[in-house]
Amino acid sequence: MKMWLDKKIIFLQIICCFSLIDISYQRQNEYNFVVKEANYTRLCSTKPILTVNGKFPGPIIRAYYGETVYVNVHNKGKYNITLHWHGVAQPRNPWSDGPEYITQCPIKPGGKFRQKLKFSIEEGTLWWHAHSDWSRATVHGPIFIYPRKNTSYPFPKPNAEVPVVLGEWWKSEIMDVQEEFLRTGGGPNNSDALTINGQPGDLYPCSKSETFKLNVDPGKTYLLRIINAAMNVVLFFSVSKHNLTVVAADASYTKPLTRDYICIAPGQTVDALLHANQEPNNYYMAARVYSSSPVLTFDNTTTTARLHYSGNYTSTSSPPLPKLPYYNDTKAAYNYFGSIKGLPKRYPYKVPTNITTHIVTTISLNSFPCSEGQICQGPNRTRFAASMNNISFQTPSSSILQAYSNHVSGVYDRGFPSFPPFIFNFTAEYLPLDLEIPRRGTKVKVIKYGSTVELVFQGTRLLQGIDHPMHLHGTSFYFVGHGFGNFDEEKDRKTYNLVDPPFINTVLVPINGWAAIRYRASNPGVWFLHCHLERHLSWGMETVFIVKNGKGHHQKILPPPPDMPPC
Ligand code: C2O
Ligand code: CU
Repeated sequence: MKMWLDKKIIFLQIICCFSLIDISYQRQNEYNFVVKEANYTRLCSTKPILTVNGKFPGPIIRAYYGETVYVNVHNKGKYNITLHWHGVAQPRNPWSDGPEYITQCPIKPGGKFRQKLKFSIEEGTLWWHAHSDWSRATVHGPIFIYPRKNTSYPFPKPNAEVPVVLGEWWKSEIMDVQEEFLRTGGGPNNSDALTINGQPGDLYPCSKSETFKLNVDPGKTYLLRIINAAMNVVLFFSVSKHNLTVVAADASYTKPLTRDYICIAPGQTVDALLHANQEPNNYYMAARVYSSSPVLTFDNTTTTARLHYSGNYTSTSSPPLPKLPYYNDTKAAYNYFGSIKGLPKRYPYKVPTNITTHIVTTISLNSFPCSEGQICQGPNRTRFAASMNNISFQTPSSSILQAYSNHVSGVYDRGFPSFPPFIFNFTAEYLPLDLEIPRRGTKVKVIKYGSTVELVFQGTRLLQGIDHPMHLHGTSFYFVGHGFGNFDEEKDRKTYNLVDPPFINTVLVPINGWAAIRYRASNPGVWFLHCHLERHLSWGMETVFIVKNGKGHHQKILPPPPDMPPC
């Protein structure tokens, strides 16, 4: 009898703890993603949005380290679409990576594509999103990657794990927002709300009853898997009266860093522990914009969610809002980014010290002069543009990967410069206006297999300086240094952190400054490199790095799947 009781208790305990860790977790290597419209109500009005399986944010993909997962994508929407698995390296398999016209042609309405997600070195939180047009505003969701059996987190196991997806909401249809600014040449409309798990929160009209609520038990620890899925804004995030201990960034572990706020750029993810160690009560968590430009307007609203302690207590009627750094607090942003250190014992390989490929690229906002018949609502009646090394990327109308692997010419050329074509005082306050006009082209950079790459992003003050979250597909990289002003090889290389830099996939390049990354190019394929601010991507702040095949058998691009969407 006693035995039986014990067993029963154990059984109950297992149920309880398992459900705490993840209520709906079931091991699954195959997902069906149906892209379709669904009606959603936010800010007092209802509109159709594009979703996966009718959900916003979309479904969570869960996997163990090293696992392979398949996603059957079925496009039941009315637009072309592609899906991308942000931060998944996809070894030797660029075919499933997703950026439209870079690695595939879009899945047309009615079309299907079975995509393979091969997890290799990633562990922590990533996310997936549409990678065609502006549909990623609503077509995105989390990816949780757990330690594989018999391994563990490099921190005490949390009692539960919680997605915190930060997003942006427009009252109008997102495709109209995109269409309008591309047609007029001006800037896109700012969003009408920021969201936490799809909800604007108590500070917006008609939102209160829907606000996301995290129920916590006093004394327990929660792993927040925070994703910045916003289109155009870097965010500060904080929880009232609670600290956050950052333990991973972009699915790579970090040294624990305890702060009362974090800063997170579009594309980035942060795993942070939250200890429910305060007076039982209601508290707010909140996010708002970090925007350093003195001229740009932005969505200056604040999104909130509630932290609700269990137990009997009389709660304060209006819980306090957390203190967030001021909108333009560049110091707060880079003090945070500069404090994140990687966890060398978990590195996939050593930080490269012997560099074989040096690349420096400017990242600039630009403008094209107005030509006849065009609408020109950009600065001084021009049209907005953006560039890397003075080339404003022209997206082709067929896939670069396909052209590359079939040796088709005319789709792209190999002329992406390794260094800025003009050297000027990139961050000077006044710059000659003619520097503002970039060239157009579909220029890629070809890199030898196994190269060790140092890539320096140099922000410029053309038009206006701003921070840029630069994201590379196909690999993560060590973020070894950053600073303000012009990058100075001699002086700035000495400041690099080659000991414990974070291993990330998206780096925020400081306004009127630079950031340096290092990595080993050991994943053959066609890999997109771009600013993760959607408006800058639309304007041409992107290029493609092609990593050639190596000599070894396992150093070559795999053959394409049979159901690649036709061009
Ligand atoms: Cu988050 Cu090119 O992607
Ligand atoms: Cu940018």
